[in-house]
Amino acid sequence: MSQKLRVGILGGTGMVGQRFISLLENHPWFEVVTIAASPRSAGKTYEDAVGDRWKMQTPMPEAVKNLVVMNVNEVEKVAAGVDFVFSAVDMTKEEIKAIEEAYAKTETPVVSNNSAHRWTPDVPMVIPEINPEHFEVIKFQRQRLGTKRGFVAVKPNCSIQSYAPVLTAWREFVPTIVVATTYQAISGAGKTFKDWPEMIENIIPYIGGEEEKSEQEPLRLWGSIEDGEIVKAQSPVITCQCIRVPVLDGHTAAVFVSFDKKPAKEELIDRLVNFKGLPQELNLPSAPKQFIQYLEEDNRPQVKMDVNFENGMGISVGRLREDTVYDYKFVGLSHNTVRGAAGGAVLCAELLKAQGYIQGK
Ligand SMILES: NC(=O)c1ccc[n+]([C@@H]2O[C@H](COP(=O)([O-])OP(=O)(O)OC[C@H]3O[C@@H](n4cnc5c(N)ncnc54)[C@H](OP(=O)(O)O)[C@@H]3O)[C@@H](O)[C@H]2O)c1
Repeated sequence: MSQKLRVGILGGTGMVGQRFISLLENHPWFEVVTIAASPRSAGKTYEDAVGDRWKMQTPMPEAVKNLVVMNVNEVEKVAAGVDFVFSAVDMTKEEIKAIEEAYAKTETPVVSNNSAHRWTPDVPMVIPEINPEHFEVIKFQRQRLGTKRGFVAVKPNCSIQSYAPVLTAWREFVPTIVVATTYQAISGAGKTFKDWPEMIENIIPYIGGEEEKSEQEPLRLWGSIEDGEIVKAQSPVITCQCIRVPVLDGHTAAVFVSFDKKPAKEELIDRLVNFKGLPQELNLPSAPKQFIQYLEEDNRPQVKMDVNFENGMGISVGRLREDTVYDYKFVGLSHNTVRGAAGGAVLCAELLKAQGYIQGK
């Protein structure tokens, strides 16, 4: 008999939804039993609803092919068959906020990939290695929603995953100024080269809303709970430019950083390779054994060689050297649809289960 928690994927036909479904194939704790999408897909089998839109490099799991897709908007009906949901729907921000809270109010926890609730004061936004203690704000959210087990938890934007973990590993040296440029893959926009041919041999110096997220969201990760709300940290100052580049998967960041207590290069590398958190201590199923790797070669990290480090859940760092204007500079790389999207959310859900926030209904 299966003891796995029953999972629904909201937006399961989309790119992030597909990544959830691929990552959850054979998951030891979670089983996808329900997929919901727009009314356009509802009533079709998952295989028919996705049609030629399957964007993963691995085949569609057999177990989901014949699931009949439900309508995301039929909240009670979808919620009735699941213990919790992952959310990857693409609707307006207001619609997403409302529908995620509607699921929470049916006592169905929501672990979301969307940005809609990232600044809702009592919604935890978590990278499990960095700020797992923010899940404690859930009790205040439950009071507001009037729920016993329902809540919304989110993961942060994909762009910050190539440098926020690095800066966290260096917090003892007190970073004061961070200047970052991100080189972001087209899958971050839900696209492949087939459906975005203009990106072949091209660069676009604009990603709507991304720079503000890249500058602000790390501060929320480093914030604290005060009076039932997450209050963001005040430092370091972060300025960022976000550039779309002709890469399928993998966001690279080139970063300059100044510190209050300037460390030696060896100390910085030592903190990176020894940085671990609760996912590693608890040996969660999706946790990378090594969260951050440091690559000594001058030409690393490279997207093609390093994006799948630790099955896409690890961060690769290289090119750490002293700078003439700031203290140091480095290059970071992470997988934007694994660690930066679905994989990050799955790791959040594993920690939430391990800590008793998500249980069978
Ligand atoms: N791609 C990434 O790396 C990434 C990273 C972080 C965050 N995000 C965010 O995650 C969300 C999903 O991204 P994506 O790239 O997977 O998008 P996508 O491929 O366009 O998929 C969108 C999903 O939402 C459903 N949907 C669209 N309109 C809907 C409506 N009116 N009502 C109900 N469902 C609706 C779609 O269903 P149908 O198939 O039936 O249309 C599909 O399942 C977006 O909000 C995006 O900003 C994406």
